[in-house]
Amino acid sequence: MKTVSAVDELRTAVHSARREGQRIGFVPTMGNLHAGHLELVRVAREIADFVVISIFVNPLQFSPNEDFASYPRTLDEDSAQLSAMEVDLLFTPAMNDMYPGGQDAASIITVPGISDRLCGASRPGHFQGVATVVARLFNLVCPDIAVFGEKDFQQLLVIRRMASDLAFDIEIIGVPTVRELDGLALSSRNRYLDAGQRAIAPLLYQVLNDVAGEIAAGNTAFRELEQGAIESLIAAGFQPEYFSVCREIDLAEAQDASQSVAVLAAVTLGKARLIDNLRIPGC
Ligand code: PAF
Repeated sequence: MKTVSAVDELRTAVHSARREGQRIGFVPTMGNLHAGHLELVRVAREIADFVVISIFVNPLQFSPNEDFASYPRTLDEDSAQLSAMEVDLLFTPAMNDMYPGGQDAASIITVPGISDRLCGASRPGHFQGVATVVARLFNLVCPDIAVFGEKDFQQLLVIRRMASDLAFDIEIIGVPTVRELDGLALSSRNRYLDAGQRAIAPLLYQVLNDVAGEIAAGNTAFRELEQGAIESLIAAGFQPEYFSVCREIDLAEAQDASQSVAVLAAVTLGKARLIDNLRIPGC
């Protein structure tokens, strides 16, 4: 595995792979890799010939009160794991490589509508930061395929919309959430949970499952289901931010089951902000 930080080195390596007729697969990450990220890498490895991973903790997607400064940076461990998975190229840009004019001067991409709800409502500017960095990475790497996790389902939809609106000729692949045995979705932020909170955390998945089961069985009283879920989460010790039954296609509030439905939740547990979601097939 080759590691590069400079944009011209990245371009040279990718262009030479493309000249050889290789299909370029790309997984953007913020590092601190866990089995969820490695599953994205595995999928990219399976469907592409030349796999590029980026590690960049993107300041534009953090609010001033969030954990940008303390976000875990574990480049040596990450690099060893990626090398073992036969990644071809690791791109580790510095701030200056990503935002040469400074982060405050960067052109910003807004994906209206879908960015404003759910996580976007509580994290203003978050999805602008994500869309901006992903668009810039897409332009630098020029992949044929890019792979993202379905755990960040709203992010996946924002990126799909951005890629379609800006005519990126890139196939966006969503990969199912990887979970611990007890159901907790893998996340770099799980490390903020203490032992007591870790024991409570899987209840989020359980509550999502209960609601998904009700919907699959034909219950369409979505607002009542949301309210009941919020109460269960509070009783378990979470601080819910939202629990929402949405249309899968655009995450607008679901009114009936005529279109596919997704249930999404965000909660705080101690210092950790956890998000998770389930889609209900056949709705
Ligand atoms: O999902 C993430 O890790 C980040 O939001 C991403 C897509 C790498 C953009 O910084």
